[in-house]
Order: sequence, then structure tokens, then C-alpha cells
Amino acid sequence: MGSSIQLVFGAVPCHYTTAKSYFTRSSSYFSVKNYVKGKWDKDILCEQLKGPVDFQGCLRVQGRGAISRLYSVGKPNRRLETLSCKCQRTESVSQAIVEVGSGKSVNGMSEPSSLQSLEGPKLLNNEKTVISSDDEIAAASEMSDTLQGFGINSIEDEAWNLLRASIVYYCGNPIGTIAANDPSAANILNYDQIFIRDFIPSGMAFLLKGEYDIVRNFILHTLQLQSWEKTMDCHSPGQGLMPASFKVRTVPLDGDDSATEDVLDPDFGEAAIGRVAPVDSGLWWIILLRAYGKFSGDLSVQERVDVQTGIKMILKLCLADGFDMFPTLLVTDGSCMIDRRMGIHGHPLEIQALFYSALLCAREMLVPEEASADLIRALNNRLVALSFHIREYYWIDMRKLNEIYRYTTEEYSYDAVNKFNIYPDQIPPWLVEWMPTTGGYFIGNLQPAHMDFRFFSLGNLWSIISSLATTDQSHAILDLIEAKWEDIVANMPLKICYPALEGEEWQIITGYDPKNTPWSYHNAGAWPTLLWQLTVACIKMNRPEIAENAIKVAERRIARDKWPEYYDTKGARFIGKQARLFQTWSIAGYLVAKLLISNPKAAKKLINVEDSELVNALSYALSANPKKRPRRKLKQSYII
Ligand code: GLC
Repeated sequence: MGSSIQLVFGAVPCHYTTAKSYFTRSSSYFSVKNYVKGKWDKDILCEQLKGPVDFQGCLRVQGRGAISRLYSVGKPNRRLETLSCKCQRTESVSQAIVEVGSGKSVNGMSEPSSLQSLEGPKLLNNEKTVISSDDEIAAASEMSDTLQGFGINSIEDEAWNLLRASIVYYCGNPIGTIAANDPSAANILNYDQIFIRDFIPSGMAFLLKGEYDIVRNFILHTLQLQSWEKTMDCHSPGQGLMPASFKVRTVPLDGDDSATEDVLDPDFGEAAIGRVAPVDSGLWWIILLRAYGKFSGDLSVQERVDVQTGIKMILKLCLADGFDMFPTLLVTDGSCMIDRRMGIHGHPLEIQALFYSALLCAREMLVPEEASADLIRALNNRLVALSFHIREYYWIDMRKLNEIYRYTTEEYSYDAVNKFNIYPDQIPPWLVEWMPTTGGYFIGNLQPAHMDFRFFSLGNLWSIISSLATTDQSHAILDLIEAKWEDIVANMPLKICYPALEGEEWQIITGYDPKNTPWSYHNAGAWPTLLWQLTVACIKMNRPEIAENAIKVAERRIARDKWPEYYDTKGARFIGKQARLFQTWSIAGYLVAKLLISNPKAAKKLINVEDSELVNALSYALSANPKKRPRRKLKQSYII
């Protein structure tokens, strides 16, 4: 790590005055002289990227159907020149696209050997199965039953084929997976892009399969996008922001009709519906980076200067001082998986759990050096404060609910019991009935005079996985999932949240959003992708049977229904109103769940084990005086 790092991270908070100074960070890979007005010289960039990814001799071929969409030639966009790689066009479609699963080549590349070894039927290859009628569905289902009778695991084989068909290539190298590959969708919107959050289960599936390159490429290329010049109406968000998604476009090469080049085009929210900033992207990126190291054993990626700097930039953005009184991350509505208005602005649980997990993962990966000491100190203090805050104030069970029910309000004092001035009438009538006698969960959000009592699956599951929840709390969350199986799992795992916003609440909170009607989409729809997080959490708590049961429920129809993005209705009985079919993270989520159940030890690489020193720091803070809990910062910062 050279002096450029010290220059940038000598102290926290630190400032990037210009984009140019930012780029000095990784001078061993990029040289400032090549960067002109926010744009890199593409030739030099390609040359420089040779380190992480071998771009030598890349070929570009035109495809058709699902795959051709990935390579469709769009209007050349000047902005796109930043990350590009020259490619040569070759002959015809027929030579280029060979049926997925045939063991030959796709897009000029040899198929991975593991695909070649798939002996199972290439049942629902994308190009071949546009099943439309009920009869066809029944036939496919019957076929599937028959194959399973012969011991052929057709659902998993089919899922692998579909996952591989969703791979996007950049200059001939796999770089990510498309969000959905639905041939029936009238409007693609941005589902033809690689979403950071959607790629996580795909990446995990490849890691579990021992196919590391795609994950490595994804990590390194998205890192390049982090430094993109991004603005919305002249305003720029923080430098460490990672895009929500990006697209590989193939555009004609200037002045050469016979050749094309691949370019990466990111979206940081400036084009997204609602212009939402993807706060979760950077957090997921850190989590995936750590998983890559754990599975592949290749720590050289996380040790790279530019990767280290990328981690620090994300941390710096998250740990920056603001006006907030809480250690939780303050975000706008729609900043995570729920990327539309759903009343989760403020301090939503999902972001807090990912934040906590990313802090732990980053701490493991940061190379110790003098220049990072302040950052690490800030990180450690935040970990302690965050876990205390969530464990103490977000937790509800029967006992706590009863306590809130009897709260005194308007307490002006340092030792108030009802610190956030919650009026007991806020307790929703559904919760009084719904809360099981055993079990509990973290509420969705906490603000002054406001508790969002909805149950959000991802936030709760990731709290278990990251050890943000205590062991008792983790078991209690799983107890609740079991007790409320018909509400949370029902006919398809897993409800994104429970219950739905209805009536006036739906009108006011979602702004009459027709996509988020009650029991649909983000408003308590069921999302099969959440199966993998459920599985990791259950394995961590040594209760894999819960996940196994949920997987069985999913297997009854997920393939037959063509891998929908989400399901609607209270019992998750319908394929979602506007759900995409062949949604990649539904496919990958299922695969990860299956792979982990058959190899539970691998889940260890995905979890964060509770840190005993952190627990000590926490119990010190708690024991000082339970009523006058830390008004001041811990005198001694928590040092590992
Ligand atoms: C929807 C989801 C979001 C996902 C995207 C692509 O916008 O809300 O979480 O990343 O689709 O699948």
C-alpha cells in the first residue's frame, strides 16, 4: 500500500476533493494521466484490467433469444466509454450459440466443465421451454415427477441450466447474471441488467460449486463502477456508492463497422424507478468479497490495493458523521431489496443487519496499517453501539409487547424507560393476536414515536446469520417462523414481510402504488429467493429441518411455475401479478439452499460468528447502569 492510500485515508472523516484525487488511490493499477474529465482512456483501462481478468483475444458474437438480449447493440452512449473493451465480431448466430447444456460452446466460450458433466435431461432449457398452456404445465410436471422417480434430480439440473443461461459476459468473460430471463415479458424494464443484490445468490451458488472466476470478475468490475462519476440533476452522491445494477452493452466500435466493443453501463439510482439509492449494494459487495476469499482460498483479491480502498470507501460513506442520534444507518425509502416506497425510510432492519454484517466482514479483510487505525476504531465502536441498539430496542416478544402496552409516555429524562416516546396505542390489533407465546422478532424500523411492527424476513434472517441477534433471539426468530408457518411460508417461501399494508394505510404509505397492493410484491408478497437466507440461518442455529421443510414446499411448484420472481395472496397461492418468470435469484436462491442442505459445513463460510470481545464490550456498556445506558461514548474505544 503506497502513499496514495495514506493521502486519502490518513484520518476519518476524510474528503475526496476531486475525482482525480480519488483515482490516485490505486496508482499501481491506474494512472491519473489517463483520466480525463471523468472518463478513462478505454484502451488503457483494458490494458490495466488485464491483471484481474484476462481479456486477451476476446471475441464478440451475436446471439439470439435470451442471450442475444445481453448483447443487443444499443445506441452508442458517450458515457459508456469509461469501461469498455474492444471486441471483434465473428460469424453467424448458429455458430455462436450452441444449446446450453450440450457441452459445446456458448458465445465463443467453452462451457464450464461442471456443466459438461451434467448428465440429467436438459429439461427446461430457456430456448426450448416456452410452456404456455395448462396442459403443457401438467405435462412438464408429470415429466418432472417421472424423472425424479428415476432418481434424476431434474429441478436442480434445470436450475443449473437456467442459471448458466443467465450468465452475462463482458469481453468473453463471465461477469454476472441477468436479473430475469423471461421470454414472455412484454416490457423488459431493467430486468436485463446485472443487479448487485440479485447476483449475491448466483455468486454463492458458483462459489459452492467451486466456480470462482465469475465471482472474482463481478467483484473487480463492480469495483471499477464504484468510482463512476454519478449525478442526478447536478447532485453527486457519496463516492463509495455502488450501483444498483449495470448492463453490458455491445456497441459498434468507432470507425470500424465490422467490430464492436463491450461497455459497462451502471445505474446508481439515477435512472431507477423512484430514483432510489441502493444502500445495500456496497454492503452486499463486501459480504460477497469475504465469501469469495473463504471459498476460493484466494485472499489476493481482498488484499489488492484497489479492493482495500473500495472497502474503505464504502465504510467511510456508512460511518460518516451526520445529525443522527442513533447508531443505525439512516436511509431513504426503497434503499434495499424493497426498492419502492413502502414506508421503510429511516432505520430499516434489513439495512442495519447488512450494515452490521458488512462491518464484521470488512474488519476481517482490512489489512492492518497505521493509516486505517481511525477507521477501524470507528468501525469497532459502531459495531458495539449498533448491536446494543438493535438487540435492545428492535426486539419484541410477548414480554416486551406487554411492556410497551403499559408504557408511560412523555418522559423527559436521561433514564426514561420509553426512550423513543412510543404511544402504546400504536400496537396494531393484528399483532396482539399474532405474537406467539414462544418466539419473537426484530421489528422493521424504529424512529422517534414510531415502531414499525411489521415482520421483515430478510432483516431477521440476516440478523441471525450475522450474529446481530443473540443466540436466544436467533432461536426465537426461528420459533416464530415455525409458529407462523402458514403466514410466513404458506404455499411458497418466504413472505418478504408480514402483514400487508391495506386500505388507507396502503394509500398513504405506498402512495397508491398499484404494484404494491396488499399481499403482492413488496407488500407481503412471497419471494422464493429468500430461501437461501433462511437455509443459512437455520443451519447456523442447527435447525436445518426448518429450511428443508420450506424447500419441499418450494419444490412443489417453483419449477412448474417457471421460477417466478414473487407470489401473491396471503397464502402465496398465485404467481405474482407482474412477476417475471425465470427470475435468476429465485433460481439461484433455490440452488444455494439445496447445496447448503447437502453440505451444511459450507454455511460456516457465510456466517459471522459472534465476537467474544464485542460481547464483553457490550455487557460492560449494559452493566454500567441499565437505566442510564450509555449517554456518552464508551471511554475506551473497543479495540480488537
Ligand atoms: C425489483 C426488486 C429488487 C430487485 C430487482 C431486480 O426491483 O424489488 O429487489 O433487485 O427487481 O430483480
